[in-house]
Amino acid sequence: MLPGMNPYEGKYAIVTGARRGVGRMITEHILAHGGSVAGFARGEPTIDHPSYRHFRVDVSDVRSVESAFAELRKMQPSVDIVVNNAGVLTAQYAMIMPSTAAQEMFATHLMGTFMVSREAAKMMRRRKRGRIVNISSMAASLQPVGDSVYAACKIGMATLANVMAKEFAPMSITCNTLAITAIRTDMLASLPQAKIEEVVKGLPLPRFAEPDDVLNVLDFFVSERSDYITAQTVYLGGVN
Ligand SMILES: NC(=O)c1ccc[n+]([C@@H]2O[C@H](COP(=O)([O-])OP(=O)(O)OC[C@H]3O[C@@H](n4cnc5c(N)ncnc54)[C@H](OP(=O)(O)O)[C@@H]3O)[C@@H](O)[C@H]2O)c1
Repeated sequence: MLPGMNPYEGKYAIVTGARRGVGRMITEHILAHGGSVAGFARGEPTIDHPSYRHFRVDVSDVRSVESAFAELRKMQPSVDIVVNNAGVLTAQYAMIMPSTAAQEMFATHLMGTFMVSREAAKMMRRRKRGRIVNISSMAASLQPVGDSVYAACKIGMATLANVMAKEFAPMSITCNTLAITAIRTDMLASLPQAKIEEVVKGLPLPRFAEPDDVLNVLDFFVSERSDYITAQTVYLGGVN
């Protein structure tokens, strides 16, 4: 990051899915750059840092999100950054996809993103500024077999950001989407590795994503200089 361009110093962020994978990486990046983070996840905290506060939240459950925000508002007057990262993936042919797994994906990615974004925006509007970033996937564009629900959820997260971008523009809250390619996490490890290797080989830039690929775009979206960047989706790896 260029000197004097740190967008996290003194900022308060909410990161969903903060305890593992991409969410943990993002949380540690914000903390390392002088920000504070409220991490939302279902499980116990995995991060120990004076500027980190863990909330046991199931983002797929409306009441769980509402009660987390009620608690957060008691200790924190405003929020500067939201990263909607929490996600679950069951890859399966539509005809045999368990309906409970489909429901969990819709509720986590779509209802979770909707609820967290709008509750955070209510806090952001006091200061008339904010940054919302949704973590989507190459699946939104590639639409792979077995990912009917997951891909629909991930493109839906971009749609949520694009419409909220218009609604929140008068409050100077930007909403953007970062669609990532395969990156080594628990989620990726749960998938058939041969299939993933084949997908990665077919990308315009045929390699796995590295943490800095993700953080570079996040830094750009949350930068103070990105006031005029909203309703945009950046796909990593040359996917479009
Ligand atoms: N890894 C990839 O290759 C890849 C590629 C494209 C897009 N993505 C996207 O990147 C994001 C992060 O994925 P990841 O690979 O880091 O996954 P991961 O390693 O499986 O971690 C998922 C995180 O989301 C949290 N989470 C899941 N459901 C939740 C819920 N209902 N409420 C609160 N927290 C919940 C988990 O918390 P608990 O531990 O408490 O359950 C965990 O911290 C997801 O949105 C995913 O779709 C990943």
